[in-house]
Amino acid sequence: MQHLLSVNDMNENFIFDIWSKASDQKENFSNVLKSKILTNLFYEPSTRTSSSFYSAMVRQGGSVIPINNVKFSSAIKGESLEDTIITMGTMSDCIVLRHPEIGSSIKAANISSVPIINAGDGEGEHPTQTLLDGFTIFYNNNKNIDNLRVTMVGDLKNGRTVKSLVKLLSRYSGNHFNFVSPADLRFPKELLPKKSFQTERIEDVISDTDVLYVTRVQTERGSDHHYALSMSQLRSLPDNSIVMHPLPRVNEIPREFDQDPRAKYFDQMIYGLWCRMVLLENFMS
Ligand code: NCD
Repeated sequence: MQHLLSVNDMNENFIFDIWSKASDQKENFSNVLKSKILTNLFYEPSTRTSSSFYSAMVRQGGSVIPINNVKFSSAIKGESLEDTIITMGTMSDCIVLRHPEIGSSIKAANISSVPIINAGDGEGEHPTQTLLDGFTIFYNNNKNIDNLRVTMVGDLKNGRTVKSLVKLLSRYSGNHFNFVSPADLRFPKELLPKKSFQTERIEDVISDTDVLYVTRVQTERGSDHHYALSMSQLRSLPDNSIVMHPLPRVNEIPREFDQDPRAKYFDQMIYGLWCRMVLLENFMS
């Protein structure tokens, strides 16, 4: 059975196939997932990811069992993750799982009778975010995803989207990474790609950036910092660069920048819907 637990579960052909079909989803309201049911099982807050899966499913004729607030599920009575997975496997064809513990999706996959899609496991990974992040670069960069100067900013220690995206981009040749964060929120040493540079000052690298990937401080994982990029810092970005953020944004990017053609963070949500439509079809039809 196919699960999607990590970026390691997606090879280049799989990813390329999804990206090639993703932009065709603009006008696609098909019925390919008619009579299929997805469980959205979220043990952590989510606006975009859970709604994106919901919308992707319904747009293709399928249905969703939304368990978005575990306070109202049997988890609050003490039911284990495994028992909940067995339960939902009897009622649905696939389970999208978000959980605060690293490795929770592996635990779920070991027992599940239906495919598991990891929608974020603590500070671990978030492979479907990476699918849409990679597509954002691919789509806005003439279908190229190599030889890029990628600057990652924010809570690089606890943010899972950065870890998954670095894994993906490291596979393509010539990509160079700049990691900008306070010293205690640095990208984990063991995951550092070969071609990388670390700094606490965005000024050191912003003018040498093709992709600026901004993330928020993960206060729920114990991080305690505040930072915000200013319009004057953002003015040093090259004209043909793009600015991404997995969202939610707190204060990291000024609203004033939203109208800038380089701002792609709201577009990312549309791309996410397209990519998840193709992914769900791939998993369930
Ligand atoms: C991210 C996540 O949950 O890891 N959000 C998302 O899925 N778009 C980023 C975050 O919460 O900071």
